Amino acid sequence: MACEYFTHKGVLFPCLDYSPENLSYVENEFQVQDDDIFNITYPKSGTNWMLEILSLIRSDGDPGWVRSVVNWDRAPWVENGPGLEAALKYPPPRLLCSHLPVQLFPKSLQRSKAKIIYTLRCPKDVLVSLYHFSKILRLFKEPGSLDSFLEDFLSGNVVYGSSFDHVTGWMGLKGNENFFSITYEELQQDLQGSVRRICHFLGKELSEEQVAAVVENASFQSMKGNKMSNFSQIPYPLWFAGICGDWRNHLSEAQSQRLDTVYQERMQGLDLTFPWD
Ligand code: PPS
Repeated sequence: MACEYFTHKGVLFPCLDYSPENLSYVENEFQVQDDDIFNITYPKSGTNWMLEILSLIRSDGDPGWVRSVVNWDRAPWVENGPGLEAALKYPPPRLLCSHLPVQLFPKSLQRSKAKIIYTLRCPKDVLVSLYHFSKILRLFKEPGSLDSFLEDFLSGNVVYGSSFDHVTGWMGLKGNENFFSITYEELQQDLQGSVRRICHFLGKELSEEQVAAVVENASFQSMKGNKMSNFSQIPYPLWFAGICGDWRNHLSEAQSQRLDTVYQERMQGLDLTFPWD
């Protein structure tokens, strides 16, 4: 294969659907609008789940939109070619996704009131999910052994770069009134309460019935059965376990400890604790 990945400003991207020109355009020229809502994540951290929740909140819990429009059109990924094209045509108010690290995100965010929802996940589950995903998605290189992929993951030698840099970069915005962060684990533990908190952040109050409809239609089973949300049209399975702690079924004690050591080194400056700490 001629080109699988390229490096842009120190971060790896797949050649398919991505280009340095588009990434530069997104960073320097893309105009963030005040009424934009951004769903931002490091890959495999709950992007599509949050996309579904945000879509359902937008439609007051009515599943009509999520069942009739495919997820990548409801909230395009701004940094890839088709996503950028869709984002530029999207009638306001836009719902957009991005896996970009903060330093490559559109600079115009700084001058806008756009809302950012940042979802994080236990890095061990991210690693395992990304490893399985890399084996099947043609956008990604064959990941090799789990041991070698672990080292790539820890050093940031994977698509979208280091998860630790991603988290520390975006969490630097914590405290900003237009920034809201939540974990995949919180969504799992209390989806109803999480939906209420997200609604509150968005300034959109839903009734009890509407919140219940969001929760029901954003469940793993509902999304798995919805062809507009389950990526069956590409086709590749997005869906593996959809649980917290699946890493225990895949990582050896040594691999788990190796990740712990690097995680502690890299995250110690961040004065925050997460459900997996
Ligand atoms: S991607 O491809 O990077 O955008 O992937 P992303 O959507 O961020 O993460 C995929 C993981 O999220 C799980 N998922 C869910 N878990 C619980 N409930 C719901 N509704 C849900 N939707 C998606 C999905 O199963 C992937 O996790 P793993 O551990 O691989 O199963």
